[in-house]
Amino acid sequence: MSLKKIVVLFSGEGTNLENILKKLHKKEFEGKKIQIVKTITNNPKAKGIEKAKKYGVDVEIIDHKNFSSREEYDEVLVKSIKKVNPHLVVLAGFMRILSPVFTSNIKNAINIHPSLLPLFKGVNAIKKSFESEMKVAGVTVHRVSDELDSGKILDQCCFHRDNESFEEFEKKIHQLEYKLYPEVIKTLLIRE
Ligand code: GAR
Repeated sequence: MSLKKIVVLFSGEGTNLENILKKLHKKEFEGKKIQIVKTITNNPKAKGIEKAKKYGVDVEIIDHKNFSSREEYDEVLVKSIKKVNPHLVVLAGFMRILSPVFTSNIKNAINIHPSLLPLFKGVNAIKKSFESEMKVAGVTVHRVSDELDSGKILDQCCFHRDNESFEEFEKKIHQLEYKLYPEVIKTLLIRE
């Protein structure tokens, strides 16, 4: 049985983190076991901290407020990730722009974004997507690159809009995230 190690980075609610923990942590697929060996947050008040602890997973808080530059922060982040030598780094609502210090050192990192990229990059993607004239909406999993929300697209999922309220729309987006992200992670770790 081979072990596939993941590090998850998050900043807030941590619902994607919790979903990944529930569906993949310590689970076996085709003779391979997935383990979230560590989580890291930049936000000492992130709700995700309790969620990781509930599963007995290590949480490291690296508060960006203690660093004077993005590069300095990323150096510490990279060091912390490399210590556990993961097969995959999963960004789940990690709301920081990453510098080349991160992208040149951590090659196997993916992110989920709540829009159909390349549309609606950056913050408030759900709101931007909701307010657009698009008849479909969805989510994207992509590789992390130097440019924000711009790495190679790995997979997408969408729904046809139906005059939903913003709350209903947001809920549909999150449901797609919870379906798609674990599937892509599994594909990358188990089938490739
Ligand atoms: C998710 O909707 C994720 O797609 C988004 O932040 C939310 C985090 O929620 N990420 C981005 O916008 C990245 N650009 P969560 O903390 O409950 O998983």
